Amino acid sequence: MDNDLKRLKSTNYLESKGFSLEVTKDGSPTLRWGQGESMHHSGGAASETVYIYGYALEKYLKLQMPSNELVVMSMGFGLGYNEILTVVWYLLNQDQLPKIKIVSYEKEAFLYHEFGLWLENRDTPLYEIYEEVLKSVTKLLSSSDSRISDDLTFQKHIKKNLLDFRKQQQWIQEDAVTSQTNFVDQFNIFLFDAFSNKSTPDLWSTDFLVKLLSGHSKKPCVFATYACRGELKRVLISCGFAFEKRKGFLGKRDATCAVLI
Ligand SMILES: C[S@@+](CC[C@H](N)C(=O)[O-])C[C@H]1O[C@@H](n2cnc3c(N)ncnc32)[C@H](O)[C@@H]1O
Repeated sequence: MDNDLKRLKSTNYLESKGFSLEVTKDGSPTLRWGQGESMHHSGGAASETVYIYGYALEKYLKLQMPSNELVVMSMGFGLGYNEILTVVWYLLNQDQLPKIKIVSYEKEAFLYHEFGLWLENRDTPLYEIYEEVLKSVTKLLSSSDSRISDDLTFQKHIKKNLLDFRKQQQWIQEDAVTSQTNFVDQFNIFLFDAFSNKSTPDLWSTDFLVKLLSGHSKKPCVFATYACRGELKRVLISCGFAFEKRKGFLGKRDATCAVLI
């Protein structure tokens, strides 16, 4: 199928789901929800992911590791950038890490479904988009990490590991989070990439954050998000986290990375 036809198929499919495709300034794709919010900064979806969440994962490596299992929450699966990033990080640092479990949360079931088809190398209108997500994350990381010698081989390795993780229940795909959600896990790493407070106020409310962080964080723990809200800061501190205010990605005001030890 030629590229124009593939693009048309993905555009039509995304439109039928209420989303549209955007290519960000570093060449990596993102999705915009209706006339509303984009999933990433227009300056670079892959770059933002590495800047905000890659930083948190690297920070985690410097902490005392849990001995049995490391549990990662990915709030807002979207195009799967954080899942890909986490698997890359895990593969590169496996000798220092215990067994990992990733728990993703996503409201839009089609995003898991299409990503799963791509992982299995089956046809999906979003196939090229996921290829670009994978390529852009790998390219960014390999440019500064000599452990990734051949991008193409590494990309295959990541896809295979994501599939294995899913099969072995080391990657769990949960649906939408609400204020009623009963979390069963205790998390060591929170990659908190929900839409903004304006679009999903429940996920940023003090009650919800207290319930999540006081009841479901396991030491040592890192919490990261692209935003830096006063309410979030207060909850993190009240739950014992040391709060770090980081410069936001590409001129965004501030971002959050907090550690509980
Ligand atoms: C900022 S995007 C996440 C981007 C994603 N981390 C990535 O790397 O592509 C936010 C995501 O949260 C999802 N979402 C919205 N409300 C949600 C909810 N209540 N629970 C879980 N996910 C939700 C949206 O559908 C969207 O995919």
